[in-house]
Amino acid sequence: MQIAPSILSADFARLADEVAVIGDADWVHVDVMDNHFVPNLTLGLPTVEALLKHTAVPLDCHLMIEEPDRHAPAYAEAGARSVTFHIEAAQAPVRLARALRSAGARAGMAVKPATPIEPYADILGELDTVLLMTVEPGFGGQAFLDVVLPKIRRARQLVRDGEHAVWVQVDGGVDLDTIERCAEAGADVFVAGSAVYGCDDPADAVRRLREAATRAGAASWWGGRQ
Ligand code: DX5
Ligand code: ZN
Repeated sequence: MQIAPSILSADFARLADEVAVIGDADWVHVDVMDNHFVPNLTLGLPTVEALLKHTAVPLDCHLMIEEPDRHAPAYAEAGARSVTFHIEAAQAPVRLARALRSAGARAGMAVKPATPIEPYADILGELDTVLLMTVEPGFGGQAFLDVVLPKIRRARQLVRDGEHAVWVQVDGGVDLDTIERCAEAGADVFVAGSAVYGCDDPADAVRRLREAATRAGAASWWGGRQ
């Protein structure tokens, strides 16, 4: 069970300090938004390159951008250990996933809440992570969408059926209350923005989230392990 705090909820003027306080996290989740795929603009490759020099925690870049086929590989080449593109924007997801892997990154595919996962069952072997958005992408601090829970379960089942080593990541509205439902359904990587950076002690928030997910996953239908 891995926790990936999202720096979308951090102070953008102090990013190096903000990643330092969550040193216990498994990943630093970096939300790249281009104002086209989503109605918000955040940061891009230069900021990711700068951030890489300031943290030993691996970067998990979530690209909410148009034309990921063109722009995503550069994040992997820069040193991001995981790069996730949105299937709704990708032209050739298999080619893109292979490009990300050959640049040394884990290849992630993200789906918005209303995008089904089943059409992609046959390409799961090309991926390392499936990211299921549990809010509409674009902003931090939104309420968790329970309607995605059955898809989390189906994604876990597809991964199991195909015997794939794919991580099932959830992103949006994940906090101490909702993380248990996600873990029970089948998620094993949890992005949390406001639930970490909105706390007085972000490192403690990471630990508590991980504990809650581990407990809920272990007691669930899939046992919390691949
Ligand atoms: C939303 C982003 C999320 C966001 C999550 O589009 O992809 O990563 O930062 O923030 P919270 O945890 O506050 O919903
Ligand atoms: Zn994200």
